[in-house]
Amino acid sequence: MDARARPLLLAAALLASTALPAQAQAPKLKVGLMLPYTGTYAALGNAIENGFKLYLTEQGGKLGTREIEFVKVDDESDPAKATDNINKLIKRDNVDVVIGSVHSGVAMAMARVAKQSGTLLIVPNAGADAVTGAMCAPNIFRSSFANWQPGYATGEAMAQRGHKKVVTITWKYAAGDEMVGGFKEAFQKSSGQVLKELSLPFPNVEFQALLTEIAASKPDAVFAFFAGAGAVKFVKDYAAAGLKKNIPLYGTGFLTDGTLDAQGADAEGVLTALHYADGLNTPRDNAFRLAYAKTYKLQPDVYAMQGYDAAQMLAVGLAATKGDVTKKAEFAAALRKAKIDSPRGPFTLSASHNPVQDQYLRQVVGKENKSIGIASKALSDPGKGCSM
Ligand code: BEZ
Repeated sequence: MDARARPLLLAAALLASTALPAQAQAPKLKVGLMLPYTGTYAALGNAIENGFKLYLTEQGGKLGTREIEFVKVDDESDPAKATDNINKLIKRDNVDVVIGSVHSGVAMAMARVAKQSGTLLIVPNAGADAVTGAMCAPNIFRSSFANWQPGYATGEAMAQRGHKKVVTITWKYAAGDEMVGGFKEAFQKSSGQVLKELSLPFPNVEFQALLTEIAASKPDAVFAFFAGAGAVKFVKDYAAAGLKKNIPLYGTGFLTDGTLDAQGADAEGVLTALHYADGLNTPRDNAFRLAYAKTYKLQPDVYAMQGYDAAQMLAVGLAATKGDVTKKAEFAAALRKAKIDSPRGPFTLSASHNPVQDQYLRQVVGKENKSIGIASKALSDPGKGCSM
């Protein structure tokens, strides 16, 4: 090589190694997954993560041009640890967005911190009414439901099916209280009577004394909220106590969702209302279910679907802000006008950022929560106390 050309080549090589590429690569978006990975709700947390990651994979590993890095925390469904857990994600791990959680008590603590810090929060299950009610904020969204919604829809369905006198039974915390509240509102509107409201602390599963009280009250039906491992035990204990053949069991759909393999024949015939069901047989849901089953060798449930939609909602906001989650007003505006193409059916968000959605009436047939109709069409939570 001509000796005079060498310095020129060297300079060019140096420039190439130090100059920024024409299109600088945005850093990965840090997503904090704050979910239960142990305890009664562990299966629910795992399903949400699976659903979220399935959507991400379908988008080639990016949401709105940003690659994603996950930071995970097991919240143990423990409200007492929730403030510390979310603060660690925000302050120590510097996450850009938090996805969580399952338990209403945990979600309320998270919403408090998110509201104060302005951190973007998408709730992929927990139904605490206050999260999209009195605690609502421009940076807080939900891909799931408010507790009032499935409770109200179940109350309407039970009244329509001619039940007059019921006993309610649930865990004593926000989710149970609020689902029973929604149920009573609809059921009493149709002159239904609530004979007794039974409860036990979360996650206690010693149901025997309460089942004896149900039998003694002689209701014409029972309304129940339990979920995860607690729902499995309740449905089995209800049947074992001999109640199932005489007193029809109803509940919000969590009673039989993701639990049917373990509940077996004891769940057969149980009626529930929820914003998702098996056998919807729409092209969108069929594609989701096939992809989920192929990826995880499992059937999806409501929790997986809500995780999937949390990722879809994040993608909508990221597309509108070109990946910049600090543009909060643009992020929120995009979601407020979006129609989310969910496997449950398309939904929009209410003014308080909660899904406006159909509630399906479902009946357990074998291993499926078969949709047998719509319990409440386009049901919107009132979002009580929300102003933003
Ligand atoms: C809740 O705590 O909000 C909840 C937990 C499991 C299923 C449904 C709701």
